[in-house]
Amino acid sequence: MSAPADQLPPILLAGCGKMGGALLRGWLEDGLAPSVVLDRSFEHLSPPHRIVRHAADIPSDFTPTVIILAAKPQKADALIAAVAGLAGPQTIVLSVMAGRTIASLRAAFTAARPDAAPPAFVRTMPNTPAAIGQGMTVACAPGLADAQRALCTRLLEAVGEAAWVENEEEVDAVTAVSGSGPGYVFLVAELLEKGAVEQGLSPELARILARQTVAGAGALLARDPQDAADLRRQVTSPGGTTQAALDVLMAPDALPDAFSRAIAAARARAAELAS
Ligand SMILES: NC(=O)c1ccc[n+]([C@@H]2O[C@H](COP(=O)([O-])OP(=O)(O)OC[C@H]3O[C@@H](n4cnc5c(N)ncnc54)[C@H](OP(=O)(O)O)[C@@H]3O)[C@@H](O)[C@H]2O)c1
Repeated sequence: MSAPADQLPPILLAGCGKMGGALLRGWLEDGLAPSVVLDRSFEHLSPPHRIVRHAADIPSDFTPTVIILAAKPQKADALIAAVAGLAGPQTIVLSVMAGRTIASLRAAFTAARPDAAPPAFVRTMPNTPAAIGQGMTVACAPGLADAQRALCTRLLEAVGEAAWVENEEEVDAVTAVSGSGPGYVFLVAELLEKGAVEQGLSPELARILARQTVAGAGALLARDPQDAADLRRQVTSPGGTTQAALDVLMAPDALPDAFSRAIAAARARAAELAS
């Protein structure tokens, strides 16, 4: 049975920890057809949705349109083996698991069900602001049918922005930018706070100055279509205080170089970890 047009389709969320839980919150707020969550410990889900602790407890008449794989990569194979039986050729299997390639997902499904036609696979890289509907998710699924792509976009946009890449190798670069990116922004907040304390401000004041500055600047960036560089120039009077700081930060061997090297290092590590 298909879901009403205004509802998200029935999903099987396989693994509902930090990331799966963040996605589920967004989907529930957006209106989700009766769905099943497979997780060993997740609680607090109201009917008509159901939680099951074992795949064997999934109701036999439940046919998910999309199976979301959201376990830690090392637990993925056992999870795939447990849910592969629910995937038909029309099913979309959408993975949020970092580093797990489409080829290896397909191989795991084929190993679990050698004689079955494989489902469609979508590899995605979300980030943690998805927990508050402000995520950035990039998806990759070469050859996916347009209707299935539209459905995945709708699911992903329920927790923030969504974009697609056609070449799976780009997922490593995406991982280095938006996947790991919240960590870089939190570092900026941390260093702003440290700098404030070094200038003699109280730790309490330093904390709120740093947090609200990062949050406020981020919110401004989200609302204003101008380039980040233009917004930066607008707060930088020639010869002023911001200019004095940016002369330090933007010296060729300072932040520009550090960011280039950091993102390249993250991309290389993502490629090493991919399986
Ligand atoms: N967190 C992030 O910032 C982030 C960002 C992008 C992508 N991701 C990806 O999201 C995936 C999930 O990460 P996470 O941090 O959300 O992990 P997590 O908090 O450990 O959540 C995974 C959940 O799945 C459950 N689970 C795993 N195998 C199961 C099985 N066979 N049956 C029932 N339940 C099972 C786990 O239960 P047990 O703990 O009992 O096994 C756990 O509750 C990872 O692959 C990660 O790469 C995470």
